[in-house]
Amino acid sequence: LARQGGKFLHRIPIPTAGSASNKAMAPCGHSSIPGPTNWPLLGSLLEIIRKGGLQKQHKTLVEFHKKFGKIFKMKLGPFESVHIGAPCLLEALYRKESNYPQRLEIKPWKAYRDYRGEAYGLLILEGKDWQRVRSIFQKKLMKPTEVVKLDGKINGVLEDFISRMDKLRDKTGKINDLYQELNKWSFETICLVLYDKRFGLLEQNVVEESLNFIQAIKIIMNTFGKMMVTPVGLHKSFNTKTWKDHTEAWDNIFKTAKCHIDGRLNRHSACPANDFLSEIYNGSELSRKELYAVITELQIGGVETTANSLLWAIFNLSRNPKAQDKLHEEIRHVLSKDQAPTADDIKKMPYLKACLKESMRITPSVPFTSRTLDEETVLGDYLLPKGTILMINSHALGWNEDYFDEGMQFKPERWLQDKHTINPFAHVPFGVGKRMCIGRRLAELQLQLALCWLVARYKIVTTDEDPVETLHSGTLVPNREIPVAFQIR
Ligand code: HEM
Repeated sequence: LARQGGKFLHRIPIPTAGSASNKAMAPCGHSSIPGPTNWPLLGSLLEIIRKGGLQKQHKTLVEFHKKFGKIFKMKLGPFESVHIGAPCLLEALYRKESNYPQRLEIKPWKAYRDYRGEAYGLLILEGKDWQRVRSIFQKKLMKPTEVVKLDGKINGVLEDFISRMDKLRDKTGKINDLYQELNKWSFETICLVLYDKRFGLLEQNVVEESLNFIQAIKIIMNTFGKMMVTPVGLHKSFNTKTWKDHTEAWDNIFKTAKCHIDGRLNRHSACPANDFLSEIYNGSELSRKELYAVITELQIGGVETTANSLLWAIFNLSRNPKAQDKLHEEIRHVLSKDQAPTADDIKKMPYLKACLKESMRITPSVPFTSRTLDEETVLGDYLLPKGTILMINSHALGWNEDYFDEGMQFKPERWLQDKHTINPFAHVPFGVGKRMCIGRRLAELQLQLALCWLVARYKIVTTDEDPVETLHSGTLVPNREIPVAFQIR
């Protein structure tokens, strides 16, 4: 659920186990699905708590998959879900996917939109409306030829980011609160892409409006969790502090987003070609309200996820100097000194892509996503009723030695083998099927270019060898500041 802790919190709000209640699952048509002990009222909550609590649930779920196999069911209080952690089941689900796949509902967000008469964005839309809006944005965001056009903007922000890193490094090359800095980088990038405007987050004195916007996102993330586990209607009726804070934060976000979207559309109305937002809006049936809602959610979905993936890639490279050397060699081979990488250059860097894939396998930002079955479905040996909540566990898949030899080792080479031994359904850090992450291609390009800049400029070294654990808080975060330093090459 929503994490506290005072960092930038622009994670993608995909509800996870323990975050909502659903109706009890009807008995399976086939033999009963295995799972941990289901105590009255509590379900398996005590076992989860005993094994480290919700923050370590991703590790407990790996254990459960080992113990119970590819599929198991689990109840946490009233919330029942079926966990799938095998490529064959994921593929079966994908093949049977309906036209409008659904994730768990984020009721507090919907409540705000209904209250203010605002539209829903991609994270909360359902059915035909979701499909209509998704197809409009998909044309731009998921089409490789469109996304590569953004490399200039992404590089513009990266150039400033590297200058900032140079300034922030202490004598040993360490950067205080690196995660915060990476969040600023990804926030600045997504704003430039969406609004064609720099927010100034990488400058010495950050503009107040940007800070307010960020603060509002934090508040949304910190308040919606409470309203996922207690009825949002009650919060609204009693006008609780949680509801008030949540509403006020959304008001701020919509106000700022509207102002920037309107500004951008006006600026580009004379010459809408080659403008990301104008092209989407002008060529579609999208209402202005829908545009506001979708853009806002793209921004919320795209910041912490991307920053977090870069953080883990930096960490994994610091712990695997040979892989880093090989990556540096590849970059030097393609780019001359001080040359900025383009999207075309990235095509010549298979090892770079392999490093990122490997990093997202071992340390995925979003460890699981969900689906609510909209019809009775047979999966493996089981008949699952309509309404079943499925948890798709990309973290457990990546950690499973059945699908990845020496799975605990960082081995980018595994992605470059001639014979394709890796099942594509074993690696799903961006989800799967029609509802997979719409920002995937943008995020990949951002991350590839960022790693290029970073590894070309710095040798990333580890400053201690003690373990760094992952904690689940919506995204997988490190349990301490990652021990890395950036030495200028
Ligand atoms: C959905 C991961 C970056 C916007 C998702 C999902 C995952 C995910 C796992 C759920 C997919 C599913 O249920 O099958 C990530 C990761 C990212 C990333 C790991 C970075 C490394 C982005 C970016 C954006 C974005 C940059 C915005 C440009 C969204 C949206 C959805 C989504 C709007 C909901 C899509 C829908 O339901 O149609 N993401 N994401 N994400 N993501 Fe991302």
